[in-house]
Amino acid sequence: MEATEEKLSRRNFLKNASTLATGLAVGGVVGGGLFAGGCASNGATKTAMAAKWPWPYQKLDPEVVRKKGYEGYYEGACMYGAVRALVSELSAKVGDPYSSLPIDMFRYGEGGMAGWGSLCGALNGSCAVLNLASDKKTYPKLVTELLNFYTTNSFPSKKHDAYAKFPGQVQSVSGSTLCHVSIANWCKVSGKKALSPERADRCAKLAGDVAAHAAGLLNKMADGTFAAAYTIPPAVQTCRGCHAKGGTLGNIRGKENCEQCHDLNYKAHHPSF
Ligand code: HEC
Ligand code: HEC
Repeated sequence: MEATEEKLSRRNFLKNASTLATGLAVGGVVGGGLFAGGCASNGATKTAMAAKWPWPYQKLDPEVVRKKGYEGYYEGACMYGAVRALVSELSAKVGDPYSSLPIDMFRYGEGGMAGWGSLCGALNGSCAVLNLASDKKTYPKLVTELLNFYTTNSFPSKKHDAYAKFPGQVQSVSGSTLCHVSIANWCKVSGKKALSPERADRCAKLAGDVAAHAAGLLNKMADGTFAAAYTIPPAVQTCRGCHAKGGTLGNIRGKENCEQCHDLNYKAHHPSF
């Protein structure tokens, strides 16, 4: 245990340095909402608890979602911001059950869940909505595409620069779905502190960027043009070949980049080879 811990700490994680209340408020806008029995434009009359899954989806403007995600961050942080962006737009277009979703439940996701640096809240929140709006077969594919997008692209995007507090920020690729890694990588390239206003603004942009991409994926689903594109990278697939399901050991689960935490030169670290 100690030896492994030491090994893990030596492996630098950063190697690639590189609500109801809201429902009511929005429901009022669509002229239906809760008090009116939730008579939404699509004829749905179900509130959140009684709604049949998946919930109906109508195409959204990703750029509207992007800006709302940024703004929502400053109300309730990353996960809340991402959910608010998507759900407020869906409330306006679809009505219930989105209008009666208690979005305050998504505040906990900030900082990778109450500051633990675990799963990025922008991802966590956006995936919650992907889950609501797509069926059993589709949502894991949409989630996978969003996670892949998040881990492989440069953030924050420049698309917030017209209104952001800190326009033109330096970008970084996290390689991980973890808030901790994402923030640490960005702090490394920006030279800013993890609890600085600049880092907060970077994450506000991220909340918008991730939610906007989620909207884009759902739009493709609605158009019937969504096609799952992600494949497990070869390096990860090599490790999984022995360690994941179907492998000789079958002792792990996951698709995260093994290299960020373990040594990719597995021969040197596997005495039996
Ligand atoms: C050919 C099969 C095989 C492949 C490929 C493989 N492993 Fe392993 N791995 C093993 C076996 C067998 C053990 C346990 C015995 C040992 O240490 O030799 C092990 C042990 C481990 C351990 C725990 C002990 C240690 O030595 O650190 C880790 C962590 C690990 N592997 C990670 C990885 C990663 C990451 C990759 C991909 C870069 C990988 N493995 C690729 C077979 C494999
Ligand atoms: C975010 C960091 C992280 C990532 C990414 C990651 N691991 Fe791990 N892995 C760990 C930690 C931490 C442990 C627990 C080590 C311990 O306590 O002994 C572990 C444990 C393991 C073990 C069991 C080690 C043992 O001693 O039996 C294997 C095997 C393993 N990981 C393989 C992989 C493979 C393969 C991947 C890529 C698909 C991967 N890991 C991705 C951090 C990570």
